[in-house]
Amino acid sequence: MRRKKILCYLVLVTLLLTVFITVYMHLELGYVVDIKYQTQSIPQNLLEYGLWEPLEQYAHLSYKRKEIVARQLTTNNCKCEKEEAWLNGLISRHSVTELELVFNAAERQEVKQRREKEYQHFLQRMKTPADAVLIAKANSPLEYPMQGVEVRPMKTILIPGLSLQAKSQQLFEVNLTANLGTFDVAAEVEGVKIEGEGEMHLSLSSSQVDNLNRQLQFVTYTNTVFNPNTADTVLFKTDGHQAAFTIRIRHPIIPKLYNVRNLSGYNISALVTIATKTFLRYDKLRQLISSIRKYYPNVTIVIADDNDKPQKIDGAFIEQYFMPFKKGWFAGRNLAVSQVKTKYLLWVDDDFIFASDTKLEKMVDILEKTTLDMVGGSVREVTKYSATFRHKLSVEPGGKEGDCLQIHRGYYHEVEGFPNCVVADAIINFFMARTEKMWQVGFDPHISRQGHLEFFIDGLGLLHVGSCSDVMVDHASKITMPWTKKSESEKMYKQFRYVRASEDDGNLQNKLFYFKNRFKCIRSS
Ligand SMILES: *[C@@H]1O[C@H](CO)[C@@H](O)[C@H](O)[C@H]1NC(C)=O
Ligand SMILES: *[C@@H]1O[C@H](CO)[C@@H](O)[C@H](O)[C@H]1NC(C)=O
Ligand SMILES: *[C@@H]1O[C@H](CO)[C@@H](O)[C@H](O)[C@H]1NC(C)=O
Ligand SMILES: *[C@@H]1O[C@H](CO)[C@@H](O)[C@H](O)[C@H]1NC(C)=O
Repeated sequence: MRRKKILCYLVLVTLLLTVFITVYMHLELGYVVDIKYQTQSIPQNLLEYGLWEPLEQYAHLSYKRKEIVARQLTTNNCKCEKEEAWLNGLISRHSVTELELVFNAAERQEVKQRREKEYQHFLQRMKTPADAVLIAKANSPLEYPMQGVEVRPMKTILIPGLSLQAKSQQLFEVNLTANLGTFDVAAEVEGVKIEGEGEMHLSLSSSQVDNLNRQLQFVTYTNTVFNPNTADTVLFKTDGHQAAFTIRIRHPIIPKLYNVRNLSGYNISALVTIATKTFLRYDKLRQLISSIRKYYPNVTIVIADDNDKPQKIDGAFIEQYFMPFKKGWFAGRNLAVSQVKTKYLLWVDDDFIFASDTKLEKMVDILEKTTLDMVGGSVREVTKYSATFRHKLSVEPGGKEGDCLQIHRGYYHEVEGFPNCVVADAIINFFMARTEKMWQVGFDPHISRQGHLEFFIDGLGLLHVGSCSDVMVDHASKITMPWTKKSESEKMYKQFRYVRASEDDGNLQNKLFYFKNRFKCIRSS
């Protein structure tokens, strides 16, 4: 009996506590914000609406399409067909990879639907009302800020630039309406009637336009719904006229600065870490390290190592990180990069060799003096031919089926003050970069055997990339004379990198391009 009673009390107390906590939490937070994904898709390309099929009032006006310009307008129909064109007397061919075809016919439809859902979620995370097109209507007497108004989450600002430029009338009235915050006034001006202080709808009226305009200078906006990195669209109204503008809501971007003293020129050991990944090529790696030590005795070298039978690399300023066997190329790059503590990192392959013209100071100098995030060098083969691998990437919208990735050899422009340097989107495997930017983009660890361009595609829009032809490094691997015998490990390396790759999903890269990056095809020239 007694036990039952105690149990009853316990249950009652628990219930009461639950109710109390629930109510308390609600009081504490005050409100509930729906941040679930919505199902409707976000409309796009409003700009061209009514361009080729105009409204009734313009329907009788004829126009002549200027193809050369009209064709340059991006529409949602990038093409994946092969195309040959004559350019300066040479035939230029594009190669095209249709990505959808890497999936079986049976799974294609299902994959497409899943990709669409993930894409809509991505758009909703990325887009804010501040990205929308707002049109200022003709002859509005309303003056307001076009862009650049920003508030920290849950904070208050004065809204700059509000006023009414109206001719004399009996009563001047303006209204402001917001969705994610409230209005108030920092001061009250005589002769102005204020309604809705502390609410999402503020109404100001006065018989004197000057009084009203003075009052408008004191209008404040307070963000009240916590949903950072979005924007509030404010409606500003007077009789017969309406305008809209956005207030961006976001935290400040927190800087990550490196404290490095510059006494007599750049201290490379303090500014740069050399990162590499090794697999089955310890002889090459040791050659690389001894070549680095000739020129940079104290610079830290980070090695990611996924060998089956790891060998310890001894020496000062060397950090070797062991990974599970065959963990892969991009996974290793990620691990190495994650351990870097300096402002910059230099990526090298384990079969590179430093020479007297491997001048890291030049790379540091351009990174210190320009807005570039990353700068590549030149890899010299034994034939004295050297490669910089400069490419331009672009993405053309392709509607529901996905976008088209275009890859072109070349660069955009030279860099003022650095005569051997240019700007491009993708560069060679030998580069120096801001460490923080590498972390931001990351190396997709799905890419296990070969891969390089994938990183630059993920980094498109995030990285400002340069390439300097006068910073050289030698490439050891390709130095194979017909009479030199291949070592056991060299044979194994070849087998893993080129032969065993076929054991894996050979279409992996294209599957990632299709789903992860939402491309339908890749055209390269
Ligand atoms: C402004 O808001 C008030 C109160 O909500 C309303 O009565 C009035 O009609 C509005 N005026 C305009 C010009 O929208
Ligand atoms: C640091 O040293 C480099 C190379 O000597 C020089 O170009 C640069 O202006 C120096 N920076 C500062 C802040 O002194
Ligand atoms: C260069 O940086 C290293 C590592 O931070 C430091 O030990 C060394 O004293 C620095 N050299 C100079 C000349 O400041
Ligand atoms: C490198 O480090 C050693 C000891 O760690 C030090 O004695 C030497 O001065 C350093 N050299 C340079 C160039 O900083």
